Amino acid sequence: MLHAYYLPLPNALISILKMVTLIATIIYTVSLVINNQLSYGTMIAIIAYVPLIFSPLDNFMAFILNIRGAEIGISRVLNIYDKGEKVLQQRNDNIIKLSNNIALLVKDLSFRYDEKSDSILKNLSFNIKSGKKVGFVGLSGEGKSSLLKLLYKENEIKEGHIEFYGTDINDFAYSNYFHYINVFPQESEIFNQDVVFNIALGKKSILACKKDKIIFEIRNMFDKQLNNFLKYQNYHFQLDEIRETFEMMGILHLEKEIIRRDYEYILNELTSIHFHKTYVTKEKLDNVIKKTKLEKFYGRPLGEGGAFISGGEKQRVILARFLLNEHYRFFIIDEPFTSLDIISEKEMINLLKEDLKDKTGIVISHKFNVLHALSDEYFVLKDGMLIETGTHKELYKKDSFYRELLKTYIEENRID
Ligand SMILES: Nc1ncnc2c1ncn2[C@@H]1O[C@H](COP(=O)(O)OP(=O)(O)OP(=O)(O)O)[C@@H](O)[C@H]1O
Ligand SMILES: [Mg+2]
Repeated sequence: MLHAYYLPLPNALISILKMVTLIATIIYTVSLVINNQLSYGTMIAIIAYVPLIFSPLDNFMAFILNIRGAEIGISRVLNIYDKGEKVLQQRNDNIIKLSNNIALLVKDLSFRYDEKSDSILKNLSFNIKSGKKVGFVGLSGEGKSSLLKLLYKENEIKEGHIEFYGTDINDFAYSNYFHYINVFPQESEIFNQDVVFNIALGKKSILACKKDKIIFEIRNMFDKQLNNFLKYQNYHFQLDEIRETFEMMGILHLEKEIIRRDYEYILNELTSIHFHKTYVTKEKLDNVIKKTKLEKFYGRPLGEGGAFISGGEKQRVILARFLLNEHYRFFIIDEPFTSLDIISEKEMINLLKEDLKDKTGIVISHKFNVLHALSDEYFVLKDGMLIETGTHKELYKKDSFYRELLKTYIEENRID
C-alpha cells in the first residue's frame, strides 16, 4: 500500500516539473514571438494552457492522498477491533455486574509512550466514587489526556491496573465499555456529511411515539434468542447484529447458570444496549441540535475534518454528540470549549452542567470557570504524580499548587 512517507517526494517532483515546463514554455514562446514566428495572443494562450496539462496529475495525487487518509482510518478501526477481539476471548461473569460504589479505581498506574523515555504518569493511585465529578488540574503536557486515553482504552495499560465498577477494564469488550462511558475528547473526527449524520453517527432516527413499541419488539427478540442460546449448545444466530450485541455483553462466554440467575438483568441490558446502539429519537436529535445551535447545518456538509465550519462550531458538534448519549454511567470530558466566545461558552457550560447532574466522571480543563461548573472535587497532577486532592475550599485554604494555578489564572484574566 502507498505510504505517506513516499508522498512528499512525488509532490515535490511534480511541482518542480510544473515550474520547469512553465519557464521553458515561456522562454520558448517568447523567443518565437521575438522572431515573429508566433503572435502575442497565441503565446498568452499557450502559457495559459500549460497548467491544464497537469490537472490529471494533480487529480491523481489527490486520489493517492485520499487513499492514504482511508489507510489511516482503516488501521485505527482494525487496531480497535483487534483490542475488542482479544477481550472477547476472556471469560468474566463480572462483566454484567456494575453495582460497585467505586466507579473508577486506578492502582499503581505508570505510563510512557516510548520504552526509552521517562514515564509521563508515575505510579498513580486514586478512586472516584459513584456520583462524584472530578476535575483534573495540571500544566499543559502533564499527561492528563494520556491518562484519559488509558481510561477509554485508546492507550494500552502496561503498568498498573484500572477497574470500572469493580471489573478490570481489560475484561470489558471494547464496544460494551463504550456503552457505559461517554467521551468528550480534546480532538475528534468530523465527517463531510450534515449535522444529523455527524451527531447520530449511523443511528436510525425514529419518532418518540414509536420508541416503546420498538423496545418491546427488541426485548421479545432477545428473550427468544437468549432462550435458544440456553437451550442449544451451539446456537447459530440468524442476524449478525444480534450476535454482536451478545458478544458486546460477553454473553457468549458466560456460564449458563449465570445467565439463568441474572436473566432479567441481562435481558434488560441487551435491550438497552441494542436500542441505544441502533436508534435515537428524532425529538432528542432535533432538541440537541437546537440547544447546541447547529440548526443551520441540517443537510449541509461540514467538510472533511470540519473544513467548512468554524472551530467553535466543531466543538458544538462534539458537544452535541456527547449530549445525544443517554445511557452511560461515566463521562470523560477533555478540554471542552477552547474555541468559543465567552457568551457561547457560558451557554454550553450550562447545557453540559444540566446534562451531568447526578452523573459520575472526569473533567479536564485549563479554565477554572469550566472546572468549577462541572466538578465537585479536584485532583492535581504534577510531574506525573497526583500531588493534591480535595474540594475547592479544602485546596484553596492550603498553600497548594491548585491555589497557585487558580491565582495565576485569575490574575491573567483580569483587565484593569
Ligand atoms: N501519541 C503520542 N506519542 C508520543 N508522545 C505523546 C503522544 N501523545 C502525547 N504525547 C506526549 O505525552 C505528554 C503528555 O501529553 P498529554 O496530551 O497527555 O498532555 P496534557 O496534560 O493533556 O496536555 P494539555 O493540557 O496541553 O492537553 C506530552 O509531552 C506529549 O508530547
Ligand atoms: Mg490534553
